[in-house]
Amino acid sequence: MIYHIPWIYVPVRNALAIWHQLTRSEIPELSKASVLMRDRSRVETTIQAMHRAGPDALQVISDFDMTLSRFAHNGKRCPTTHNILDNGLLINDACKRRIRELLNIYYPVEIDAARTVEEKLPHMVEWWTSVHELLIQQKIRKDLLALAVEQSSAMLREGYKVFFDHLREQQVPLLIFSAGLGDILEEVIRQNHVFHPNIHVISNYMDFDQKGELQAFKGQLIHTFNKRDGALLHEAHFSKLKERPNVLLLGDSLGDLTMADGLAHTQHTLTIGYLNDQVEERKESYVNSYDIVLVKDETMDVPNAVLNYVTAAPAK
Ligand code: TMP
Ligand code: MG
Repeated sequence: MIYHIPWIYVPVRNALAIWHQLTRSEIPELSKASVLMRDRSRVETTIQAMHRAGPDALQVISDFDMTLSRFAHNGKRCPTTHNILDNGLLINDACKRRIRELLNIYYPVEIDAARTVEEKLPHMVEWWTSVHELLIQQKIRKDLLALAVEQSSAMLREGYKVFFDHLREQQVPLLIFSAGLGDILEEVIRQNHVFHPNIHVISNYMDFDQKGELQAFKGQLIHTFNKRDGALLHEAHFSKLKERPNVLLLGDSLGDLTMADGLAHTQHTLTIGYLNDQVEERKESYVNSYDIVLVKDETMDVPNAVLNYVTAAPAK
């Protein structure tokens, strides 16, 4: 109500304007043309509040495929963790063809701006279940996974090393929450030398028999739109981090926004969404859902700049 008293309103507004300019000059990455924000002032206020609370109050939750990993490089699509298995070492040609057919059927559904999450759900379950059954039939060999990752064109986003190393140095926990394949994503980050001890992964993990051949998948299936259920199932992980009420969340799908739902108590949450594909069709819903939207940005520049600011010691 004090905002209705003019003599207080003006100084408060001036102070806020100076405050915003400060953030603007301290995080110039937020002024890149690829950055969209529904409410810039809310973003800046949240970043300032997270900065005041410092690294000890922070945790980071990130999706993997097409968020930490690149969507494209030199105009060519990069593979998701599932697509890394599209390799003659691991699966035969008929299986490769079928997995590609399924991708062509279901990926357009996953990113279709005209369908609701409820409409997409059964299709996602069908997609994941069919692909996982095919992989089990192929008896994928555990000892060949590292080689398949090596031979693939999977890449982490530019600036990934700064991101992972900075979080380790600041001892900020990083939860990678992926509907991809846990064994493969671990191998990708290991081969990039950033699988640090502050990382915890929730994903679909393979279950190998005594011969080292894939026989099943462990636990409850995670697909793009049931991360909320997955988060609630892993309540134990989240409760260990209850002293860290500030969350930086990174994703590329609207389903990723539910990744922090296992946290009983949050204070400040900042969400950053990569909009990689079908930009015009999905821009509005992304801007309405994520605090910061990065359009066709293959770098970690914005998350790194935000983290750098949030974890820096407050000015004396
Ligand atoms: P994410 O949660 O780490 O982003 O992983 C899920 C992505 O994996 C999702 O965007 C769809 C993609 N995917 C494939 O590319 N191929 C597949 O066969 C399946 C089942 C999923
Ligand atoms: Mg993703």
